Amino acid sequence: MRKLLLLSALFIAASASADNKPIRSGELWPDTDGRHINAHGGGIMKLGNTYYWFGEHKADTTSSAMVGVTCYASEDLTTWRNCGVALSVSDEPGSEIERGCVLERPKVIYNKVTGKFCMWFHLELKGRGYSAARYGVAVGNRPEGPYRFLYSQRANPGIYPVEFGEKELAVVDTLDGEHFKEWWTLTWREAIKEGLFLKRDFGTGQMARDMTLYVDDDGKAYHIFSSEDNLTLHIAELAPDFLHHSGRYTRVAPGGQNEAPAIFKKDGTYWMITSGCTGWAPNEARMFSAPSIWGPWTQHPTPCVGPKAEITFEGQSTFILPVGDQFIFMADIWRPRHPSDARYIWLPITFEDGKPVVRWQDVWSFDQFNKK
Ligand code: DGJ
Repeated sequence: MRKLLLLSALFIAASASADNKPIRSGELWPDTDGRHINAHGGGIMKLGNTYYWFGEHKADTTSSAMVGVTCYASEDLTTWRNCGVALSVSDEPGSEIERGCVLERPKVIYNKVTGKFCMWFHLELKGRGYSAARYGVAVGNRPEGPYRFLYSQRANPGIYPVEFGEKELAVVDTLDGEHFKEWWTLTWREAIKEGLFLKRDFGTGQMARDMTLYVDDDGKAYHIFSSEDNLTLHIAELAPDFLHHSGRYTRVAPGGQNEAPAIFKKDGTYWMITSGCTGWAPNEARMFSAPSIWGPWTQHPTPCVGPKAEITFEGQSTFILPVGDQFIFMADIWRPRHPSDARYIWLPITFEDGKPVVRWQDVWSFDQFNKK
């Protein structure tokens, strides 16, 4: 009996200590092998009791993809084991995901109907800077992979957004790129809102850079990405297989220059946190809300509070993780001169006056979270 009591006391102590492990944003975060987690610009998928963290493997001296998408697994969200490379870059010359390409912000969602794990990411072809502006799609049979690369392309060629009715289409028809060679003028800004770049890229498909995926309560999934030269976000519905677009999409904050979208829903309201566009340098987070994924989207002040809140604590949003009925804001502190040393920001989202708040904490733990 005493032995049993001792064992259960030990068990309780062990589970409590797992829960108590502190989260220290900005510091090194070792995996179970003692190596700093290498999964940047990432996102997390939960399957059963296990969380899978997918992200960009970052090399020491280049931000190009030399390895691919990594996967880590955890039951407690603090102890992560390295599951290896989920999607590997290719050594085949000319491959769209050739080693040395730019492969960023991978996200994975599970399709309950097909039983497949669907990975989407931002892809730039090797040697072409950021000009390709494509999304890539890969598929796997197991959460940790391996994932098979399927294709990459620009988004929704030959399709205007759902909100473009007869009136909007008539206006787009009048827009002539030749009249708007100079950027940032008042008339250029107006033309961007009216769809100048949508029209420019109508035939080839819309640009697709920084991105996230979101699966709604009704099972529908969405690809949210920076488009139109990073000026405008697009929310594109996915087809039931989660491996293609359905062809329906909407624009958010046309001309607002938003990157790094991360989204969650609470009590029927969609909240999206984004960043401005300043390369690897941090800037002030933005926040939007909407009663429907299709909008209308309203902008709010930054949700960040605390030291360096005006530069998102030196980070840039990547994902918002639901844990029980609460949410974790995840961001990256980039280190472009030593990319593998990039750090993570994880902070709980609280609600004040009905709005999300991301308050800096040097250290916190999941104690107050119900992880079910
Ligand atoms: C900001 C983006 O959010 C990052 O993912 C990356 O593409 C950098 N720009 C590159 O400068």
